[in-house]
Amino acid sequence: MAMAEQEIPLGEDPAPYHEGTHDPRRRDFINIAAVSFAGVGAVAIVLPLINQMNPSADVLALSTTEIDISKIAPGQAIKASFRKQPLFVRNLTPKEIGEADAVDVSSLRDPQTLEERTKAGKKNWLITLGVCTHLGCVPLGAGEGENKGPFGGYFCPCHGSAYDTAGRIRQGPAPQNLHVPDYTFNSDTVVTVG
Ligand code: FES
Repeated sequence: MAMAEQEIPLGEDPAPYHEGTHDPRRRDFINIAAVSFAGVGAVAIVLPLINQMNPSADVLALSTTEIDISKIAPGQAIKASFRKQPLFVRNLTPKEIGEADAVDVSSLRDPQTLEERTKAGKKNWLITLGVCTHLGCVPLGAGEGENKGPFGGYFCPCHGSAYDTAGRIRQGPAPQNLHVPDYTFNSDTVVTVG
């Protein structure tokens, strides 16, 4: 009897698994497949939209940043952003200017005077990228209470590069001074960088 119950009559196919009843596994697969497909579709549509909203490289390269420097007291600095890079704007004290001027430029790794790194008549305004020229870390020294390093300018904690009050490399592995971007004074209190 047991054998007979398992036999399938000739000409009839065995019923598929759970045919005619709810098969949760099959339904779940269909749902997941549909959701996944919708997800791919959404990403395919959204990505071009996001990419359209991002500035292209050439637009970014032409962008400028306007900075209000009226609140930066002598001895203070601010951190801003220029073309997605950190930017330091520093108002040097007469003492810091004196320290920079006292350096024998020919002894420097990247010889430059403070005058060459600032605008005529605005020697107290040191504007540089906040990007260490060694491997690109952001040096300390622009923020309140941050370590300015042994030369009183900026100090890169990654590998110990020390910059002076003119942002010139004085010690450590960085090969160049902190870069000075193009900028212009719109007035005594507003600078456009770029
Ligand atoms: S990245 Fe600044 S010292 Fe290496």
